[in-house]
Amino acid sequence: MSKTAQPELVTARLRLRAYRTEDAPALHRAFGDPVAMRYWDTGPSADAGQTERRLRFALKYSPYDRAVWIVTRGSDGEVLGMINYHHRAARARRVELGWMLIPGYGRHGYMTEAARGVIGYCVRELGVHRFEAMIEPGNAASLALAERLGFRREAEELRDRDCVDGQFRSVALYGLLAPEFVG
Ligand SMILES: CC(C)(COP(=O)(O)OP(=O)(O)OC[C@H]1O[C@@H](n2cnc3c(N)ncnc32)[C@H](O)[C@@H]1OP(=O)(O)O)[C@@H](O)C(=O)NCCC(=O)NCCS
Repeated sequence: MSKTAQPELVTARLRLRAYRTEDAPALHRAFGDPVAMRYWDTGPSADAGQTERRLRFALKYSPYDRAVWIVTRGSDGEVLGMINYHHRAARARRVELGWMLIPGYGRHGYMTEAARGVIGYCVRELGVHRFEAMIEPGNAASLALAERLGFRREAEELRDRDCVDGQFRSVALYGLLAPEFVG
């Protein structure tokens, strides 16, 4: 498979595809929502235009560093959220993962299914051995998702690791090795 074109990933219920400009309004329902963004490493967007600008930059496919998939429902193409890997260290065979569902699409197992698709792809096609997730200790939904996938908490809090709108945030480090993946 070419590593220069972003691959589409298909799972039982989902199609994970590259970002398109017309996805911005749907994704703004997450990126503009202070509740959905309360554990993200940036604050919510002020308006749809800011979401569009940040996505245009952040969603650029750059496979040796990062890739973002828009999570859509296979049956009707509804945009449900996004999942990415970033900070890829190819020689160390390591990536970080990030995930976000649009409010209203939680608790259907969509992100578990999407993450399984992305992790499987990274292991098979990119040879990734280690996955990391930085999760704020209060983010129960994200911690539960990581644990469902086989991630383990590896460190006490990484203190003041992020700074969001002038406020430092501490995170927990979760790690998953490829043989431990619960697919
Ligand atoms: C983190 C986040 C993606 C998790 O969403 P989620 O809905 O809990 O995750 P899933 O889509 O995998 O759904 C799992 C839930 O669906 C349930 N479920 C229903 N059908 C399911 C199925 N077929 N398969 C798996 N789970 C299913 C699970 O039991 C689970 O619910 P529970 O937590 O009550 O047990 C979401 O909370 C979010 O977007 N948060 C805001 C952004 C954020 O903080 N991102 C992370 C930064 S580190």
